Amino acid sequence: MASSPNYAPPFSQCFLSPRNQLTLQHQLPIFNDWSPFSLRHYQSFWMPAMFIPACMAIQSHFNPRPSDILLVTSPKSGTTWLKALSFATLHRHSFSFSDHPLLSNTPHQCVPFLESLFSHRTIPDLNVLPSPTIFAAHLPFPLLPQSALSCRIVYLCRDPKDTFVSLWHFFERSRISLSTEDKSEGLDLNKAFQLFSQGMAPGGPFWDRVLGYWKESLRRPEKVLFLRYEEMMEDPVSHLRKLAEFIGCPFSTEEEKNGVVEDIVKLCSFDNLRELKVNKDNKASLEDKRPPPSSFFRKGKVGDWVNYLSMEMAESLDAITKEKLHGSGLSFESSTVLP
Ligand code: A3P
Repeated sequence: MASSPNYAPPFSQCFLSPRNQLTLQHQLPIFNDWSPFSLRHYQSFWMPAMFIPACMAIQSHFNPRPSDILLVTSPKSGTTWLKALSFATLHRHSFSFSDHPLLSNTPHQCVPFLESLFSHRTIPDLNVLPSPTIFAAHLPFPLLPQSALSCRIVYLCRDPKDTFVSLWHFFERSRISLSTEDKSEGLDLNKAFQLFSQGMAPGGPFWDRVLGYWKESLRRPEKVLFLRYEEMMEDPVSHLRKLAEFIGCPFSTEEEKNGVVEDIVKLCSFDNLRELKVNKDNKASLEDKRPPPSSFFRKGKVGDWVNYLSMEMAESLDAITKEKLHGSGLSFESSTVLP
């Protein structure tokens, strides 16, 4: 794989004119197999091309307040869930469970992606938002500006086999719903698996991304909370308590007694969110290439990889993961146990 030059993000490149965009697109290595989104190799990661100007803008202009919260995830690791849980927790005194914004808005509407906020060719003034505000991003740690560390970061990851399977389904679904051609070809699961294993997947390499946040969570545990999808699924209540504490709004004894923690877990559960009309919507937005809300709710299970990957594939990905994470103290071995 050709190594790409390390592009600094000067102000002039944040919001690119079509001409600049064209020049940049010619400079960064491109990869088109993950239809419908092209990937470009930007600062050592394969990022969706459409978000690269926004990444640059974030790198130059994202200045969160210390009270703000940034949720970062690897794509298909449970972003939607983490957004819902964090939003419901932070704003629990403002809304009742029977008339909650999460009942009529998608979690992505309640917690915006920085990549979307910074993609409008003007620098957003985030300081006008209430403090604290929750933002989300899919950015790898090395791509975050230093200023991002002034707020608290919650990072969520997931076993790479399940991440891959979820990613492949999501891209298939997006391709079908966003395609304007009748017969756009999809990416075969085996080919996609090979690419993922080589690090050539959206947001990849998977391991570099996870390690970035893992190491930072060890270095500054007060700034970066490292969470895993499998552990949250196993015990959502204690993880929600941990999350609430980290984002600065721990549950009181009274709330514990009244079952508020359990109520939030229930409100944000896969089964509950998936059944809401707003999240069942099958309409994609062709204009801004946004997949339908329903594509963020598939099975919500741990270990679904077993239905798609052969044992040989699973062992191969496990071996790569073991080697890449060797010596870091991070391991996905416990999540490999068959469901
Ligand atoms: P599957 O495709 O394995 O079902 P992201 O939100 O980062 O795009 O991740 C999507 C994955 O999280 C999908 O996994 C989706 O079904 C699952 N998911 C969505 N909402 C969830 C929830 N409330 N609880 C648990 N998993 C959820």
